[in-house]
Amino acid sequence: MKKKLLIFGVSGLTGYKIAKNAIQKYDVFGTFNIRSLKLENCTTYKLDLTSKDDVSRIFHEIKPDVVVNATALHNVDYCEDNKDVATRVNTEAVRTLYENSEKIGSRLIHISTDYVFDGEKNSPYSEHDKALPLSYYGKSKLDGEKILENSSHVVVRPSVVYGWTPLELAGITSSSGKPMNFAMWLLTKLHKNEPLKIVTDQFASATLADSLAESILKIASSHKSGLYHLSGLSCESRYSFTVKLAEKFGYDTKLISPITSSGIVQKAKRPAYSCLNCEKAKKEFGLRLLTTDEAMDIMKSQVEKEAPHLISIIK
Ligand SMILES: NC(=O)c1ccc[n+]([C@@H]2O[C@H](COP(=O)([O-])OP(=O)(O)OC[C@H]3O[C@@H](n4cnc5c(N)ncnc54)[C@H](OP(=O)(O)O)[C@@H]3O)[C@@H](O)[C@H]2O)c1
Repeated sequence: MKKKLLIFGVSGLTGYKIAKNAIQKYDVFGTFNIRSLKLENCTTYKLDLTSKDDVSRIFHEIKPDVVVNATALHNVDYCEDNKDVATRVNTEAVRTLYENSEKIGSRLIHISTDYVFDGEKNSPYSEHDKALPLSYYGKSKLDGEKILENSSHVVVRPSVVYGWTPLELAGITSSSGKPMNFAMWLLTKLHKNEPLKIVTDQFASATLADSLAESILKIASSHKSGLYHLSGLSCESRYSFTVKLAEKFGYDTKLISPITSSGIVQKAKRPAYSCLNCEKAKKEFGLRLLTTDEAMDIMKSQVEKEAPHLISIIK
């Protein structure tokens, strides 16, 4: 008999990729909040994660072997102004998931973020580096991590998660506070020939959601617990990532102008540097993580099949 996997946030980019990857191996169940989703071989439920009773009900109904929390309120500026909601989704809901996982005996994999770091380092952060978040989003996610500290469960930290999903083009803003992931937002702008100003002084290890999903499923089938960094292998600025994406998808890079963070208004502070060192996860799980170039090739082949209009050839 197949094991049961319950994904909270299956309508999100990472949740969707995990479901797609898991269908062969697991009986897959998933929840959405605003963006209703029908997925072949995945039973979906509408659920607000902040409702303790609803979360408990779904755990008791499904009795999942593995649970992945791919939800978050991760609009960083919105969290700064709406700390109560951020706390409920990014921290308190993790406690509800933890308590139910303990009761039912489920293995919980929780997704956190690189924004727990202050960005003062200039070499990739490891799991041993001290987390000192600059934003309320980062703080609320770090508080969520702490609930699982020293437990038998797992916390993974990716960085700038991006990739292709059909839902992203539907134009419905997720309750995560984001209408689209960074790469899809860039592609839709480039497609409309809109000029872009992108920062040169925020460095991260952008993570293809497909790779993140694959790694999470590998971790799910192990018995290990603890904290793991799980991102792409490249460490680059948002500007450099954007130029690479434009080149890969055949858009005119002249549309992209470099700016520094001081030239844009962002309510919440972002770390100037949040690249991640993933050696621990690579070693313990034999993961093959991707460079930006490899990852963008994968994304491009998916877009070619499902939304070819987003690929341009510069004339
Ligand atoms: N995106 C990034 O750049 C990034 C970077 C580092 C870490 N992360 C972390 O990676 C994880 C996955 O991110 P993602 O980009 O894949 O997210 P996403 O595409 O924005 O999806 C978020 C999911 O959370 C659900 N959700 C939000 N609030 C909810 C609530 N109150 N009740 C129930 N469901 C709720 C959304 O449901 P609906 O869409 O149905 O509303 C959606 O399924 C998150 O933990 C995030 O913090 C993301």
